[in-house]
Amino acid sequence: MKSRIAVFDSGIGGLSVLSELQKILPSSEYYYCLDNAFYPYGTKTEEELIQRLTKLLPIFVRNCDARILVLACNTASTLALEAIRSVVNIPVVGVVPAIKPAANLSKSRVIGLLATEATVRRKYTDSLISDFAKDCELIKIGSRKLVDIAEAKIRGDLVSLSEISSELAPFFKHENLDTIVLACTHFDHLREEFEKLAPRDIRWVSSAGAVALRTKTLAEELGLKELDKKENRLIGTQVAKMNLHTLSVLFKRYGFAFYQTLIV
Ligand code: DGL
Repeated sequence: MKSRIAVFDSGIGGLSVLSELQKILPSSEYYYCLDNAFYPYGTKTEEELIQRLTKLLPIFVRNCDARILVLACNTASTLALEAIRSVVNIPVVGVVPAIKPAANLSKSRVIGLLATEATVRRKYTDSLISDFAKDCELIKIGSRKLVDIAEAKIRGDLVSLSEISSELAPFFKHENLDTIVLACTHFDHLREEFEKLAPRDIRWVSSAGAVALRTKTLAEELGLKELDKKENRLIGTQVAKMNLHTLSVLFKRYGFAFYQTLIV
């Protein structure tokens, strides 16, 4: 079976997961789908998102004939992983907040959770906290603004450090906070700015590497064959909202040649 992996996010934040995948599974073919017609996910209701995802993802998976679907979006995974698994016929790897590794690393037992407003509210996130970080104090920030800032940075725009700093201010008030979970795939792209703004040494923990490793194990279990010739494809759900030229230049860096629109 050809090693073709489908990667999905509301926007281009999932590139943080894609680049980890390409490091450890360089010979796979990748199809990346961004739901730009419905971006951002963090402000949508649970009903809206479940409806959208269970409709869109089977079409995306069928369209690209992929072997594994990587849901490179915490907002979708913490809500709809099971619902998605029940409607697509291939294994699905989700990205969920790295609360467990963060709790293992934190010495002070004060941890920050940086996510979308939706991920911060999820029952799934609460259960990760009660399962793995019961003895920790959790400071939670849900930020729509940082998602937009990350999208802009990935597209090559300049970003304002002072805007980022005001979003992070509640974390930095806590003198003992020593670890922050980057629980939105967009936020890996702002790590440099976050580190610059941090008033002291803080560990920033993301799920991207672990998700790539899990995908690699799955690819081995499924016996997926590495490919000599690859044709990575970029699929969006809307043309109008984005600058196609910027996107194609950006995705070219990841070996993507095509842009296709999937109207859902
Ligand atoms: N990148 C997504 C995540 O990991 C969501 C961003 C959004 O659309 O709000 O949560």
